[in-house]
Amino acid sequence: MNPNKALGEKGDFTQIAALMRQSGETVVKALGITTPLRVLDLGCGDGTTAVPLARLGAEVVGIDIARNLVDAGNKRAAEAHLNRLTFQEGDASNLQGIRDHSFDLTLSVFGAMFAPRPFDVAKEMVRVTKPGGRIVMGNWIPNDPTSFVSELLKISSSFMPPPPEGFVSPMTWGVDTHIVERFGQAGVPRENISMVKDTFYFVSPEMSPTQLVESFRRFYGPTMNAFDAAEQSGRVEELHNQLVELVNAQNTGTGGGISIPATFLRVTVRL
Ligand SMILES: C[S@@+](CC[C@H](N)C(=O)[O-])C[C@H]1O[C@@H](n2cnc3c(N)ncnc32)[C@H](O)[C@@H]1O
Repeated sequence: MNPNKALGEKGDFTQIAALMRQSGETVVKALGITTPLRVLDLGCGDGTTAVPLARLGAEVVGIDIARNLVDAGNKRAAEAHLNRLTFQEGDASNLQGIRDHSFDLTLSVFGAMFAPRPFDVAKEMVRVTKPGGRIVMGNWIPNDPTSFVSELLKISSSFMPPPPEGFVSPMTWGVDTHIVERFGQAGVPRENISMVKDTFYFVSPEMSPTQLVESFRRFYGPTMNAFDAAEQSGRVEELHNQLVELVNAQNTGTGGGISIPATFLRVTVRL
């Protein structure tokens, strides 16, 4: 099986996405959509940004590699009576079946950054977006102590065997030079690309920091894999403690809940 698909379908990302709804809506509001657009949400999960986009009147196609998340998204769309929102399975590095220039906006919030072959991802995003349209990506930033998921993945991968040769870290999508090079090869000049740091929040009024770590351990593919590897090497407690320490250090929630600000890079590409 495609490793992205296996990872996406491992666990249940909807449990993590439940902590991301508030910021998903904020990201969508910041897009300043005023006219009904045709939008592609790439690596959409179960619709954290696709659902609020559809509520604004956009016609939205959500594409994700994980079948379980596509099904969960279509269920949410049906329950919310959003009949201009559909979810389908697909790979951000090869959007076969999607016609050239078919979307006014291609959005990918912590989604396309995880696909392999980043140059193909940039090329595909440019190909399916209309001239005059835009691409917006939200990407975690490597080696930034305030970029919570980047730190969580760094800790998780330090308990795993090294990745296969030729593996390109998804975190490179949080580095300006890589972004410019990738979109440059897809034909986009530097002056059409802007990048700004922004903050995403993971919020739960009732979850403690330890419960959050348990949630990642039970439901989030990369953390599940790290705990599997740590079990083999007898380092479960060490991994658990490092993650709890990270969450405690980042948590600004009071009264028992969590509110974790996470810095990300918002990339806007004008075509
Ligand atoms: C961190 S989640 C973010 C989901 C959603 N955008 C959100 O903000 O809640 C990353 C998503 O990217 C999807 N994904 C990973 N690799 C992919 C690929 N090659 N093509 C499409 N989706 C992919 C995963 O299945 C997962 O749903």
